[in-house]
Amino acid sequence: MATTLERSPADAFIASGAKKLLIGGQWVPAQSGKTFETINPANGEVIGHAAAGDAADVDAAVAAARKAFENPAWSGMNPHGRSRLLLKIAAAIEANAEELAQIESRDNGSPLSIARMMIAGVGETFVYYAGWATKIYGETNPSPGGILNYTLREPVGVCGQIVPWNGPLSSAAWKIAPALACGNTVILKPAEQTPLSSIRLGELMIEAGVPAGVINIVTGFGETAGAAIAAHSGIDKVGFTGSTEVGKKILIASAGNLKRVTLELGGKSPNIVFPDADLDAAAVSTAQGFWFLSGQICVAASRILVHRSVHDAFAAKLADQAKVINVGDPETATTMMGPLVSREQFDRVTSYFGVAQADGARLVTGGKALDRPGYYVEPTIFADARNDMRIAREEIFGPVTLLIPFDDEEEALAIANDTSFGLAAAVWTKDLGRAHRVARALKAGTVWINTYLYTDLISPFGGYKQSGIGRELGRSSIDAYTEIKSVYAKLD
Ligand code: NAI
Ligand code: MG
Repeated sequence: MATTLERSPADAFIASGAKKLLIGGQWVPAQSGKTFETINPANGEVIGHAAAGDAADVDAAVAAARKAFENPAWSGMNPHGRSRLLLKIAAAIEANAEELAQIESRDNGSPLSIARMMIAGVGETFVYYAGWATKIYGETNPSPGGILNYTLREPVGVCGQIVPWNGPLSSAAWKIAPALACGNTVILKPAEQTPLSSIRLGELMIEAGVPAGVINIVTGFGETAGAAIAAHSGIDKVGFTGSTEVGKKILIASAGNLKRVTLELGGKSPNIVFPDADLDAAAVSTAQGFWFLSGQICVAASRILVHRSVHDAFAAKLADQAKVINVGDPETATTMMGPLVSREQFDRVTSYFGVAQADGARLVTGGKALDRPGYYVEPTIFADARNDMRIAREEIFGPVTLLIPFDDEEEALAIANDTSFGLAAAVWTKDLGRAHRVARALKAGTVWINTYLYTDLISPFGGYKQSGIGRELGRSSIDAYTEIKSVYAKLD
């Protein structure tokens, strides 16, 4: 039975009228006066409107962010002050976590249970980078007697941050928290599918005391607001999470003023299952890896390479896992998997069902949409697939995986690395030597051994090849959000 959430703070926020842009500490409509709809993918109903920001609004946000960057209220803030401010933001997120989780779930269809987990991670990201604000060190370099040479780490400046809809606030936090820890100012553009939670975060950040213009939020479409950010000569760095296709456009647009660019893009992450692996554990983890958030995660376990001797047995175990996934309304407590985020994503994912079978993959389970309102599809597994099939090469971003048989380690590695992506990978084996040998040979930014999806903010995250440029999280974000200055002083 669905939980009733009538008149919750989330309902009140969602019902509070068209949402505005946050520019220079003020909530303002788009200069064009335009707004766009946001829908609940669980039923396809319009739940609100947000300002459709465009180039003129991005100009205003850049001016506000630049002014704030140069304002001593921010540029002169003691690192301890920045640390405290980030902790206040974290406290505000924690105090309003249930509301944020409900807004997120309503806007992008993630099960409330998962949204709660992700919002906890959002708060944690601010806590983690609060720690960094006071630990951003330069170096004193070895120099000859008459010279003192040291380095300073300085903020990059105004950061444009463009995020997707699958984990809207998680992506936003990964970008905002380190940017602020290093003393930058930010213009955030949430995805057009999920503007709401970022706006609520903006309100909480202003309440927490973030100076005007340090955080600006421009909701709007990619081709307009997003493209204006990527091209803007007043922006020093752009951080993007989304499709590889748009990542390439952003890189090109950024060339105009040679912005610093970090890109976190798609994947087609292989799990290699050797015959000596704990097949039950591998089935549980890889299943979770492909249906979590309806498969709308960049590290989805979307290619499972299985030794031929256990291929059929593993397919059966994975199918058993898929059958117990509770697909349904995001707000029902027992729901494990909700709908896809949008009609567009639904059409995209379901189009692959026919493609896979036409290419000769064998459907093991799923392969259909659910017969109900909203954008629901069944967890879907194809077996006896080949790596040259479209479903093995393209990111589907739905709860769809495929099994490819292999005969030996060398072949498994060749298949695993034969992809334009390089975000994540996993190896399943009890052979210690093989586990680490394979981990080393895999061309991926994250490799899991006998587990999947476990991550920690402490460790860098990002991709090889067309899965991205640069790394986020851990110390890597401090590198991404600082410039290094070498200073030489003559001492006599
Ligand atoms: P997208 O890459 O178009 O959207 C992500 C963000 O980029 C949104 O904020 C969007 O407004 C913005 N954007 C779009 N076009 C832009 C442009 N020309 N300039 C600047 N910003 C722009 O992703 P979309 O269309 O929502 O999803 C398509 C596919 O992309 C998915 O099926 C999936 O394969 C992949 N994707 C990967 C994600 C990841 O986490 N790596 C997240 C979202 C999508
Ligand atoms: Mg797009």
